[in-house]
Amino acid sequence: MTSQPRSIVVLGSTGSIGTQALEVVAQAPGRFRVVALAAGGGRVDLLARQAAECGAEAVAVADAAAVPALEEALAANGARPRILAGPEGVAELATWPCDVVLNGITGALGLTSTLAALEAGRVLALANKESLIIGGPLVKRLAAPGQLLPVDSEHSALAQCLWAAGPGAYGGGAGAKAVRRLVVTASGGPFRGRTRAELGDVTPEMALNHPTWNMGPVITVNSATLVNKGLEVIEAHLLFDIGFDRIEVVVHPQSMIHSMVEFTDGSTIAQASPPDMRLPISLALGHPERVPGAASAVDWTAAHTWTFEPLDDEAFPSVALARHVGALGGTAPAVYNAANEVCVEAFLKGGLPFLGIVDTVERVVAEHSAGPASSVEEVLAADSWARTRAAELVR
Ligand SMILES: NC(=O)c1ccc[n+]([C@@H]2O[C@H](COP(=O)([O-])OP(=O)(O)OC[C@H]3O[C@@H](n4cnc5c(N)ncnc54)[C@H](OP(=O)(O)O)[C@@H]3O)[C@@H](O)[C@H]2O)c1
Repeated sequence: MTSQPRSIVVLGSTGSIGTQALEVVAQAPGRFRVVALAAGGGRVDLLARQAAECGAEAVAVADAAAVPALEEALAANGARPRILAGPEGVAELATWPCDVVLNGITGALGLTSTLAALEAGRVLALANKESLIIGGPLVKRLAAPGQLLPVDSEHSALAQCLWAAGPGAYGGGAGAKAVRRLVVTASGGPFRGRTRAELGDVTPEMALNHPTWNMGPVITVNSATLVNKGLEVIEAHLLFDIGFDRIEVVVHPQSMIHSMVEFTDGSTIAQASPPDMRLPISLALGHPERVPGAASAVDWTAAHTWTFEPLDDEAFPSVALARHVGALGGTAPAVYNAANEVCVEAFLKGGLPFLGIVDTVERVVAEHSAGPASSVEEVLAADSWARTRAAELVR
C-alpha cells in the first residue's frame, strides 16, 4: 500500500458510478482521500452530504441555478467547501490538484472534463466512455501512456487480461502482436432472446429493469438496445488500438466473465468476478495496486453454469451500426452517440417506441457525411447537428 492516501476528484459523484466510487473509498480507510466532487445539480442534498462526509475542498454543479440550494444543504451538513458553478466550474474541477480524476458524468457532456483533466496532466479513470468515443482523436492525442484508465467493466477486464499477458500487450507495443482478438462480453440485456417483432411493445419500465447490473437510466436503456455494447466496441478499438475486425462480441447472460483476450497460439485469458462495478472502479483509482476487499470474488466451491451465445444482429442492429460508424471515424461516432442520447430521452418520456431508438439513430447516421474530429468545435458541431436532426425525426 502507498504511504500517502491517493487524492481523488469524483465527477458525477451523485450517480451510480460516483456513489460506488465513494463506497470504494469508504471501504479502504487511509488509501484514498476525496478532495473534490462535481454533479449536475439535480441532487444537491446528496452532494452536500457527500462533501461533508469526505471533507471535500471544493464542489461543482453544472446547473448554476442549483447553487443557492447547494449552499443551504452544505450549511445544514456543516461543510464549507469552495463552490464552483456551471459547466466551466465542472471543467475547472477536472483540473483540481489530485492524483486521479474519476469521470462518472453521463453522456457527451463529459467530453470537456475528460479533455481538461488530461490537459492538466491528471490520471483519468474514465467511466464516461462517451467522451472517448466522440472525441476519439482529441482524447488520444492528449493522453500519455498510462494516463487513461478504463472503468467500464469490459475494458477493465481487457486491460487486466492484456497486463497479465506481459509487456507491450496493452498499448499496441510488440506484445500486442500475440493478440488475435478481443472478446467483449454482453449480458444481452433484459430482452435477450426476443426477436425484433417481440421488441415492439417494450416500455421504459421494462427497459430499465436490467437483469445483472444496477446502473443509471441512460446506460441501462443503452444496455437494453445494446447501443452500450456498440459504444464499448468503439471504446475497445480506441483504448487498445485493435481493428474492428478483431473485436468480437459474445453474449454471456451471467455477467461473470467481463471480457477476454484471445492470443495467436489459441490461448484465451478471461477476467471473472461477480457483477460489481466497485472492482473496476477500485482498480482504476488504485492502479497499479489492487484494493483488497473492493468486491466479492467468485465462489469457486459452488456449482456455476456460465453460457455464451452469439449476438442476434437482426434483433439488435446497434452493434453492427457502431462498427460502421467506428470504421468511418471522424465525427461519425459523435453523431451515433448524440442521436442515441436524444432518442433515449424521448423513449424514457414516452415519445418514441423502443425500436424507434436505433431506427432513428440509423437514419441520422445515414444522413451524416462524416468529417474530421480534430477539434472540439468539429465534434460539438456534429453532436449538435445530430441532436437537432434526431429531435426532428422523433417529432
Ligand atoms: N453505472 C454503471 O454501472 C456504469 C458502468 C460502466 C460505465 N458507466 C458509464 O459511467 C458514466 C456514468 O454512468 P452512471 O450510470 O453513473 O450515470 P448516472 O447514475 O445517471 O449519474 C450521472 C452523474 O453525472 C452527473 N451529471 C449530469 N450532468 C452533469 C454535468 N453537466 N456535469 C457534471 N456532472 C453531471 C449527475 O449529477 P445529478 O445527480 O446532479 O444529475 C450524476 O452524478 C456513463 O458514461 C456510463 O456509460 C456506468
